[in-house]
Amino acid sequence: MHADTLIDVLSLLIRGTELNRSERFTPLVLEFLSKLRAEYSGFPQLRAAIELDFPSSPFLRAATATRAAVPAHDPDEVVQAFVARVIGMGAYEASHPNGIVNRHFGDFHISLREHPFPVSLAFGEMKFFRRLLAGLRKPEVLTVLEIGTGFGVSSAFLAYCAAADGQPCAVTTVDPFVEDRHSDHSTVLAPGYDAGAVDYSHNLSYNSFQALRREFAELAVEQVLDFSPRCFARPDLADRKFDLVFIDGNHFDDQPSEDFFGCLPLTHPGTVFALHDSHAPGVERLLVKLRAGPWTVAPHPTSCNLSVVTRAADAAHPAA
Ligand SMILES: C[S@@+](CC[C@H](N)C(=O)[O-])C[C@H]1O[C@@H](n2cnc3c(N)ncnc32)[C@H](O)[C@@H]1O
Repeated sequence: MHADTLIDVLSLLIRGTELNRSERFTPLVLEFLSKLRAEYSGFPQLRAAIELDFPSSPFLRAATATRAAVPAHDPDEVVQAFVARVIGMGAYEASHPNGIVNRHFGDFHISLREHPFPVSLAFGEMKFFRRLLAGLRKPEVLTVLEIGTGFGVSSAFLAYCAAADGQPCAVTTVDPFVEDRHSDHSTVLAPGYDAGAVDYSHNLSYNSFQALRREFAELAVEQVLDFSPRCFARPDLADRKFDLVFIDGNHFDDQPSEDFFGCLPLTHPGTVFALHDSHAPGVERLLVKLRAGPWTVAPHPTSCNLSVVTRAADAAHPAA
């Protein structure tokens, strides 16, 4: 097929995806683009022509870029723009970790290139959070607490998503970066361990978070380099009240329960909690306690099983 004809066909298809953001059609077009990229030697020229015609479609730009492929996924425009911007940084890729953390096949996560694990939020979960944030809209600044910064994608996404939908938002994210393969695991559990005094120069998660903060410098993301729940007694945090708490720290033993009950003084009756990885043993243990108490638990079959927890309608405000 002549290159001009191919450009015409692609332009029609891409125009079609812009006019009709169909959950079936967009993935097919993206799959077609990735096949062309893999198998057609004239793809770089084709790509340049497509980008001339569609400069405002960052998702399609990322999908046709040579350095990282964005696989087909849910066409939420805010998610697409965020993913494209992160992947455009060059250090990240969209991964498909079926069978490891992806409990519901077919979704994609962002991970660091050449480090398939750990992974961040799945694209479907980003879309889920977009709806959750929309339900929490308020004229004042929406305050979000995240336990478990990891490599920083989720905190950047929450702040980005709120801003994209016109909601003023401030995200505070807590992590002592102890799960990174470059952490000194012999010392992190020692008494007196001071997360603020550690050399993080080789810590992938820490450095990824800093890179994302630079990329998304327009967003309000505050870092707390400390352990949950002990950090919640700090004078700079103790008086705060958060509207949304996202718990995605250490998933084992009683830590998820300690995170949840430890941050309660920093919440109000309308605070919404989102728990990642509800299938993890420590999170399951917490969910059993919550179901037996004055809480409403709504499980969602996202890639990593997000649960949303709110105070039951007739509950007093439990302090712990
Ligand atoms: C699954 S990762 C977080 C991923 C991140 N939310 C994302 O989606 O991009 C878990 C993180 O929890 C952190 N963590 C472990 N124990 C913690 C604690 N007690 N308080 C806060 N963070 C903790 C680890 O250092 C690790 O970076």
